[in-house]
Amino acid sequence: MTSWSDSPVRHATRLSVAPMMDWTDRHCRVFHRQISRNALLYTEMVTAPAVIHGKRALLLDYSPAEHPVALQLGGSDPAELAEATRIAADWGYDEINLNCGCPSDRVQSGAFGAVLMKSPDLVARCVEAMQAASPVEVTVKCRIGVDDDIPEQRLPGFIDTVAAAGVRRFTIHARKAWLQGLSPKDNREIPPLDYELVHAMKAARPDLHLSLNGGVTSLDEAEAHLARGLDGVMIGRAAYHEPMNALGAADARIWGQGAEADPFTVAEAMKPYIAAHLAAGGRLHQITRHMLGLFHGRPGARGWRRVLSEGATRDGAGLALYDQALAQVKA
Ligand SMILES: Cc1cc2nc3c(=O)[nH]c(=O)nc-3n(C[C@H](O)[C@H](O)[C@H](O)COP(=O)(O)O)c2cc1C
Repeated sequence: MTSWSDSPVRHATRLSVAPMMDWTDRHCRVFHRQISRNALLYTEMVTAPAVIHGKRALLLDYSPAEHPVALQLGGSDPAELAEATRIAADWGYDEINLNCGCPSDRVQSGAFGAVLMKSPDLVARCVEAMQAASPVEVTVKCRIGVDDDIPEQRLPGFIDTVAAAGVRRFTIHARKAWLQGLSPKDNREIPPLDYELVHAMKAARPDLHLSLNGGVTSLDEAEAHLARGLDGVMIGRAAYHEPMNALGAADARIWGQGAEADPFTVAEAMKPYIAAHLAAGGRLHQITRHMLGLFHGRPGARGWRRVLSEGATRDGAGLALYDQALAQVKA
């Protein structure tokens, strides 16, 4: 396995965009990459059986521009996860991440996701098998606990057991998951955030690379967590809904590169990608549905959203409609 010091994603880990099912598909990632050249981008979760038995190109293909890009796997069978990791690493992903934080019913029935926090020994076996199969770093995304866990006990025990199996980098969604009675959406909002516990973990385990996730809505907040000593911050919903607020100044402020991204430049930069997608038989909406928040907070933002949401699903919708939407914000 690649050691941490020469990991190809090392520079990118200070800010990442969270894995989000149905949202962070390849088109969304190409869009986010136009806003930040450096942030680490995560795929949606893909289950290990899907990687092994499903339509691999559909599940795993991505554009070279997306690097550094991490694939998130779901699963709890070490051999299956190892096989899926081998396949994904061959596909060129820069990191393979194991989902130990997703509370949805479907995932619970497969005994993976957040329920794995109750079985750290099993997670250790999973990541050992994945690491043996992977030339790139294997990481873990988890919660601070599940159900009636006491997070101050659950989290350190989980992290220590998984770290003893060789994982150096964790992203911690700073709230518990409740496996019964809460929808996945409620599970991202109702269990209270406990940032202090994540900071305490970093203080107690300074050798581990720990990223905080959950409820971070701006780059200012992300930078405040980094300044307090965390190694990385992962932003989910805010990066999707208000991408310029979350990511627009990241290259300049976090990596000291260039000026703040400009949404018009981003919109222009997407055109060749959109044209290629349309030429290959794809639909405009598949890309622009992820871009509705690009002009959030600017005059004309509603018009941009309206023209795209009403028109981009229509047959034949293409760059002419895209320009019409852009005219709403340029006016
Ligand atoms: C639509 C949606 C889909 C999600 N899918 C996944 C997923 O596939 N894997 C995962 O680990 N977390 C998933 N999450 C959780 C996010 O990665 C993140 O942990 C959570 O949204 C908290 O971060 P935020 O407050 O910055 O959004 C999803 C969240 C949303 C909103």
